[in-house]
Amino acid sequence: MSKDKPNYKKVAVKDLRLGMFVADVGRGWLRHPWPTRSKVISSKADIDRLVEFGITHVIVDLEHGKKTPETPPRPAPAPPRPKPAAPPPPAGETAEIVGLERRTGVRPEKNLEPTTMEEELPRVREAYSHALQSIKDVMARIEEGGKIDIEAVRETVEDVIDSIFRNRDAFLALLKIRVYDKYDFAHPLNVSVLSVALGRNAGMTAEELRELGLGAILHDVGKIHISRKILDKPGRLTPEEFEIIKQHPINGVRMLKGYQEISPAALGIVLGHHERIDGSGYPKGISGNQVHPYNIICGMADVFDAVSTERVYRKGFQPFAALRVLFQMRDKQFSAKWLDRFVYTLGIYPPGTVVRLDTGEVAVVVALNHGQLLRPMVRLVEDGQGRPLVRTRPVDLNQEGMSARNIVGVVDEKELREKGLQPSRYVDPHGEE
Ligand SMILES: [Fe+2]
Ligand SMILES: [Fe+2]
Repeated sequence: MSKDKPNYKKVAVKDLRLGMFVADVGRGWLRHPWPTRSKVISSKADIDRLVEFGITHVIVDLEHGKKTPETPPRPAPAPPRPKPAAPPPPAGETAEIVGLERRTGVRPEKNLEPTTMEEELPRVREAYSHALQSIKDVMARIEEGGKIDIEAVRETVEDVIDSIFRNRDAFLALLKIRVYDKYDFAHPLNVSVLSVALGRNAGMTAEELRELGLGAILHDVGKIHISRKILDKPGRLTPEEFEIIKQHPINGVRMLKGYQEISPAALGIVLGHHERIDGSGYPKGISGNQVHPYNIICGMADVFDAVSTERVYRKGFQPFAALRVLFQMRDKQFSAKWLDRFVYTLGIYPPGTVVRLDTGEVAVVVALNHGQLLRPMVRLVEDGQGRPLVRTRPVDLNQEGMSARNIVGVVDEKELREKGLQPSRYVDPHGEE
């Protein structure tokens, strides 16, 4: 926290007054009392929540709230929530304050220090948990007919984008190795992460990624009122049931069109993520160039996540096999150009894939080499005689020189689980199960 920024002041929670603008509570998302990092104190409940979370001091922005503990408290109506357009940050602030201003509304272009996988994974874990919570909140709000906190969703997307700008593989690595939560909550996030990762690899700007990520995270909100019987049906849908499913893009747009913060392009993703370039999609059945690249990207991410996730009614494919399913749609439902980019983003053997090497060893892919998709970074799980290995160091298959090991096939991860080995443990050794 920047103590040298004149308008920021550390204030004891017991001295907080209504109307003060709390710029930061000094907590990560996991142990944070509010959905947003900054907030105007608009009721005593806001203060009680800080106390509940064991927070004793916070940073108050005097410029926003115009009140300090020295100012005698007077009951005043809470000022409106700070608008996204805050004044531009003065030069010379710390990186932490840059992050803070991002959360209060100023959204700069990205210039973030790259991180290693090990450095990035703990941040991804935190961002993932926070994002799931934010998606749960959105769904709960919609179900009760309330207003969605779009700013909280945008912050979630911003966390994803930041992570991908620092390290393009860490978020992807975590996506496919752990079953974090119910599909309904994890799916929007997974689709958003996959879309942003692809968009980043395609050279999109931060602003484009914000639209893409936001549209992707909201893409299925129109499904919220469809019955579970239809959504979880194991077999084929009847034509009547499919007609109901086909309404969800239009219903989604109806739910979201009143929100000024959602751009037409982001809304276009909600409407068009089931459109396909061969005209076989819905709701409009448009084709070719009429299908916006955002919709192609979100559509591929949607199919990939649906196919590779374990659902109530069927086992999910390994990422490798899910990519194969997607590949069958190349140049038909999805243009070759975008599909190839998707494969490039995820790798032939995406992180989490269990592979067999020509030495007889079994390994788990932990990171990609983008120039050499067939030669990723792996961690050995079993030696050539099938004996389990623990705490192995990562092996870069691209840096092995003369003694290079080669991937010869994919192993069903069930085989490992039956032996008591968790593939996820190898990708993210410090993560929880
Ligand atoms: Fe959908
Ligand atoms: Fe979906």
